[in-house]
Amino acid sequence: MKPIIIAIDGYSSCGKSTLAKALAARFGFAYVDSGAMYRAVALYFMEQQIALEDDVAIAKALENIHIHFEYNPDQQRNETYLNNRMVEDDIRSKPVSDLVSPVATIKAVRTAMVNLQRKAAVNKAIVMDGRDIGTHVFPTADLKLFMTADPKVRATRRFAELQAKGENWSMEEVIENLRERDHIDSTREENPLRQATDAHVLDNSDLTEQEQLDKVSIWVNGLLNAKI
Ligand code: DC
Repeated sequence: MKPIIIAIDGYSSCGKSTLAKALAARFGFAYVDSGAMYRAVALYFMEQQIALEDDVAIAKALENIHIHFEYNPDQQRNETYLNNRMVEDDIRSKPVSDLVSPVATIKAVRTAMVNLQRKAAVNKAIVMDGRDIGTHVFPTADLKLFMTADPKVRATRRFAELQAKGENWSMEEVIENLRERDHIDSTREENPLRQATDAHVLDNSDLTEQEQLDKVSIWVNGLLNAKI
């Protein structure tokens, strides 16, 4: 397969990973959830009690952090591993969700993660979702999508997702966490969340998962035909 990069960016809970996984499955591309990497770093910092102001401890920690992904056929999901420990559920917990945006503002953390993300895409057909994939990690990606959705729709989706996992969040807490993360993600100094000028904007407030997959598949097919 020819190397292809599809970059999907947008705010939290806009359905980026749902679309990214569905595209990867439909076209046989690899999938990388870049947010999971920042979450794994946040989990490590939390467990090792690394202060976000401690540059020396952070630099040392980053040398000791190894992240990889494995597909679990029983659960039918990609799972994140932190130093060979499966942490897919731990990285979605409330404490990690509260800590991850501040962690993702740290320059050394971003540099390390961006290096890993670029390495993961070498000679691959890959879909990667995040905040700065089309603007910074892969500014020459073959296809860039910027996803948006109505804030109420996003909060409702996130609330349902957390309830399904048995996580005990109130609707107010969900709204506050999304608001806080949007603010930090889009105002931080290092590679903030921005729409790339050449991105297709996809507002999925009123689209089903199938409809959005079909819509984007037309663009991907156009790309594959152009690459032949
Ligand atoms: O997509 P997510 O909610 O799992 O991402 C977790 C956090 O990581 C989010 O608050 C912003 C940050 N992030 C980032 O700064 N850059 C990326 N490419 C992906 C995620």
